[in-house]
Amino acid sequence: MSSAVVLIVDDEAQARWSLRDRLTTEGHDIVEAGLSSEALERLTAINSIDVVLLDYKLPDGDGLTVLKRIKEAWPEIQVILMTAFSSVDIAVEAMKLGAYHYFNKPFNLDEVAMLVERALETSQLRREVRALQSSQGREYAFDAIIGSSPAMHAIKALLARVATSPASTVLLTGETGTGKDLAARSIHYNSDRARRPFVTITMSALPEQLLESELFGHERGAFTDAQQQKRGLLETAAGGTVFLDEIGEMTAGLQAKLLRFLEEKTFKRVGGLTDIRVDVRVIAATNRNLEEAVAHEKFREDLFYRLQVMPIALPPLRERPGDIPLLASYYVDLFNREFTRHVRGVSPDALKMLEQYHWPGNIRELRNAIERAMLLVEHEWLEPGDFTTLTRVVTQAEFKLPAEGVSLDEVERQLLVQALERSGGNQTQAGQLLGINRDQVRYRMEKFGLTVKS
Ligand SMILES: Nc1ncnc2c1ncn2[C@@H]1O[C@H](COP(=O)(O)OP(=O)(O)OP(=O)(O)O)[C@@H](O)[C@H]1O
Ligand SMILES: [Mg+2]
Repeated sequence: MSSAVVLIVDDEAQARWSLRDRLTTEGHDIVEAGLSSEALERLTAINSIDVVLLDYKLPDGDGLTVLKRIKEAWPEIQVILMTAFSSVDIAVEAMKLGAYHYFNKPFNLDEVAMLVERALETSQLRREVRALQSSQGREYAFDAIIGSSPAMHAIKALLARVATSPASTVLLTGETGTGKDLAARSIHYNSDRARRPFVTITMSALPEQLLESELFGHERGAFTDAQQQKRGLLETAAGGTVFLDEIGEMTAGLQAKLLRFLEEKTFKRVGGLTDIRVDVRVIAATNRNLEEAVAHEKFREDLFYRLQVMPIALPPLRERPGDIPLLASYYVDLFNREFTRHVRGVSPDALKMLEQYHWPGNIRELRNAIERAMLLVEHEWLEPGDFTTLTRVVTQAEFKLPAEGVSLDEVERQLLVQALERSGGNQTQAGQLLGINRDQVRYRMEKFGLTVKS
């Protein structure tokens, strides 16, 4: 019998309770959700979930929609659908969407336990195959990190060195979308830990108490809901890697506990007395400036220095525009395959525009921009006009401050007047042209004494 992390999604506390009760005696760890939105939050925050028991009828949507989302985002997770009455249609639809199985309520707990057991075998098998493929260097090979700029060469070399080094702690910094997640996985899957788990937990996704018990586990009776002992992610990841995302959001209490773990390699479960020792590599990531957080006493200085032992800073895309053609052609190829399109590439004009853009969302934004363009395009080459979401900011970047200076108020007034003229007085549309909302348009119209037509 192997143990799994099972997510039970049901709005009825009684149903959750009896499933939890039975499955914990089988040795499984249980996570619960009463709403579909909650279920997706849990899945995002905890990446060790193996099996989901999913009620068909939920207060905020139906189980099939959740099933679809799960299968898109976490294909190796096995989902078992529970329906309150036998409906052949729903069952057929669920199987088509990739459910592992379904059963009717009221359920027979022996059958449920057996189904979970079998689903678990399937999901573990898939995980192993994936880990094997990855460790053989496909999905997360350093080659999958695109970039030939000197900065990216240096980063890739550093990642490769860190992966094979015994360094137990790594800090990844960089703006949103610069590839911190990708870097963390490539470190893991290129290290000798590759066949052990890679577990992610996002500091901002759960309240402190839940986070603490997710991370460190808890003993039975540690708090009101702790009916059973539960292993934390640090134990689940034994021998592997724990990825602590958005470390800058970690609360003071947890920071202290994490520091102790990093220094002593031991921790206690919540409500526990014994020290537990595990060998995991901790990779932390943040898109915040931790030094600033330390200066504002939002982040412990000692923890900061402990994490700084092996810092890797991922550069923003705007600082390495030379990588844009390579990335663009990589994504054009990718979406050609995905959408069975035959786009040949990005035209020179469009490339120039992409190279000048400031990419606040970095590579994720570039990927999204190309994906969106490729969904709509009907010609062979992507042109500037195909990147509609970016153009506005690009033209803004061309504003040059004249040597004699300007009156900012006057510039603002004139642009507002022009936007209103172009939108025929429609304030929402004028706002869109200026990147502000309708209220902000109205506020400025009043400020400049322009007539407000409501
Ligand atoms: N150098 C790169 N080559 C290819 N793809 C990349 C590269 N860097 C990032 N990506 C892709 O860009 C997207 C965003 O990257 P990722 O999720 O790793 O960013 P992040 O730094 O974790 O962002 P956030 O701070 O928002 O969590 C992903 O699809 C990732 O595969
Ligand atoms: Mg990330």
